[in-house]
Amino acid sequence: MREIVNKIRLTGKTAVVTGGHSGIGRGIVEAFAQAGASNILIAGRREELGNRAAAEVAGEHGVNCAFYRADITAAADREALIGEAVSRFGRIDILVNNAGITHVENAEDISWESWRRVMDVNLDSLFFLSQAAGRVMIKQKGGCIINVSSNSDRLVMTPQRQTVYNASKAAVSMMTKCLAYEWAEHNIRVNAVSPGYIQSDILPEGVSKDGKKFRDVWTGMIPMGRFGYAEEVGAIVLFAASDICPFLNGSVILADGGYHLT
Ligand SMILES: NC(=O)c1ccc[n+]([C@@H]2O[C@H](COP(=O)([O-])OP(=O)(O)OC[C@H]3O[C@@H](n4cnc5c(N)ncnc54)[C@H](O)[C@@H]3O)[C@@H](O)[C@H]2O)c1
Repeated sequence: MREIVNKIRLTGKTAVVTGGHSGIGRGIVEAFAQAGASNILIAGRREELGNRAAAEVAGEHGVNCAFYRADITAAADREALIGEAVSRFGRIDILVNNAGITHVENAEDISWESWRRVMDVNLDSLFFLSQAAGRVMIKQKGGCIINVSSNSDRLVMTPQRQTVYNASKAAVSMMTKCLAYEWAEHNIRVNAVSPGYIQSDILPEGVSKDGKKFRDVWTGMIPMGRFGYAEEVGAIVLFAASDICPFLNGSVILADGGYHLT
């Protein structure tokens, strides 16, 4: 039988993780480092935090981990990021599209600008970064893309109002399936993880100054009675990114502590 367990290791692989310097992204980078990824490039806008995170990961796990400053909404930054990864490491085995923003506002009040901002970060940038990495992966005849979506790709999370965020994540999950279909012939797997509430910078303060109130309400809605941890999402992304499951393609893996059951 095909050997399984050691396939979870990322030895020799190069990964790019957007927003890998905080929250869920940091959990993903930690998981990749623990799995022995050879090169990890954290991409994001926050230079000081990024350099610190990269140094900590490199120091703790003895892997090559660096930060590259990039705003994923800027076309030039996206191209430069992919170019940097290729010129430094020669290839990109794994792209994790993790960077994202949230937005809570009643539907009747959302401005064009707010709508575009969320779609720009969560959806448009994710597609065009995937396209840039996909072109590299097509040439190198293989690769793997993992998108961080949300359980709000299918659920109307309550009581907060977040139409634009939910719509962006629904599109991310559908785009994951489309790219998986198109690029399967190039040996590129595209999958997504849809987390529920995860303890991170986005929560609870990012959602509302009155975050405590939301937090208690949300916790009560999760059968497991707690938020998830970044490393729990990291473990799923590692599973999808590794060679342990080569038949996993076009899947959107839901991990929300059972929130969707109620
Ligand atoms: N925390 C949750 O409960 C939860 C649940 C489901 C999905 N998610 C998703 O997980 C992902 C990570 O979020 P998080 O919870 O870790 O929050 P976070 O705020 O810690 O992480 C988001 C990261 O994206 C980066 N980012 C934002 N805009 C960017 C841009 N234009 N260019 C480059 N980087 C940019 C931020 O600097 C940050 O590092 C997001 O896509 C989010 O929608 C989070």
